[in-house]
Amino acid sequence: MPVQVKGEVLSVRKIGAYHAMTVVASGVATTAKPGQFVTVAVGGDDTSMLMRRPFSIYQIRERGVYGGTVEFIFSVEGRGTRWLADRQPHEPIDIVGPLGKAFSMPREPATCVLVGGGYGTAPLFPLADALRARGCRIDFVMGAARDERLFGALDAKRISATLNVTTDDGSEGVRGRVSDVLPEVLRSTGADVVYACGPMGMLRAVSAIAADAGVPCQIAVEELMACGVGVCMTCVLPVIGDDGETRMVRSCIDGPVFLGDRVRFDDIGTVPADAVGAPQPAVVKQSGTVSLPGAPSKPTKDATATPGAPADPAERELAR
Ligand SMILES: Cc1cc2nc3c(=O)[nH]c(=O)nc-3n(C[C@H](O)[C@H](O)[C@H](O)COP(=O)(O)OP(=O)(O)OC[C@H]3O[C@@H](n4cnc5c(N)ncnc54)[C@H](O)[C@@H]3O)c2cc1C
Ligand code: FES
Repeated sequence: MPVQVKGEVLSVRKIGAYHAMTVVASGVATTAKPGQFVTVAVGGDDTSMLMRRPFSIYQIRERGVYGGTVEFIFSVEGRGTRWLADRQPHEPIDIVGPLGKAFSMPREPATCVLVGGGYGTAPLFPLADALRARGCRIDFVMGAARDERLFGALDAKRISATLNVTTDDGSEGVRGRVSDVLPEVLRSTGADVVYACGPMGMLRAVSAIAADAGVPCQIAVEELMACGVGVCMTCVLPVIGDDGETRMVRSCIDGPVFLGDRVRFDDIGTVPADAVGAPQPAVVKQSGTVSLPGAPSKPTKDATATPGAPADPAERELAR
């Protein structure tokens, strides 16, 4: 159950290209699970930054000297994260969490390949701890644009049977993308399951590779979010359900963890026409009338003005 907490900043430290913020927030820490996220109010009391900023949970400590803490890793991207990077220990901070659905765990000990891109590697560490506690084997694959944007390579080496690192510029590990090494990792480890978090392009590639190899794959997406609690519909994406139907689901409450082969990556940013509840295009009848679902048919000016052209603006859009 998510709670809103007036937390306290315990520390902000620099790790490579990223910052790690630890917040005393007992209510959040006691129920947080790997794959969930928090949203943080930024800018202080008098700010125009109205939206909370979402971050995946990196470390969860249910108990500590000051109470339970959560830690998240962030990259300074804009005003909100710049403000966070400037916080000092003991300052108050308003945090909501834990939010979203967590990764699912295998019932039996399994070989688990964890694939992270940039700061997306961070939420895979509490997952690795939980998997190891269940007797699972961990194999890590992590990638980033360049070495300083890799996160947690040393820790990953310590806890995993194998670690494969890629960078776009070859400054660390193999030059290339995680998708270049993943097929061989899946083959050589005999992977039972893949867990991934990172940019959407990476998740798409990882999902396709896992599907080709017949390995189930869970991905944590980081779609743009406004409210983080299911109210605003900013974060929707088309996902195929158990019944085979596509629905526009909210990544903040139905995700952020999804089965990779259920996400319609090609259609993200659109409402596919076959999605449940999608607006249906108007049907142009031979008489030049337009029939809109649920509306009485009537002649339209456009249809008579431009013979052969789709009559309805929405249809014209579809005809492009
Ligand atoms: C579920 C979830 C988990 C996330 N976890 C982390 C994390 O662990 N660490 C981390 O550094 N970031 C994470 N993000 C992204 C993070 O929320 C944004 O980078 C942050 O909100 C930017 O705030 P800002 O005010 O600094 O930048 P803004 O001024 O709001 O934006 C700066 C730039 O960042 C882009 N941006 C904003 N949000 C996102 C996003 N979700 N994905 C891609 N680009 C974005 C904007 O389009 C803009 O170009 C996560 C996002 C989601 C939805
Ligand atoms: S972010 Fe508002 S509904 Fe998901």
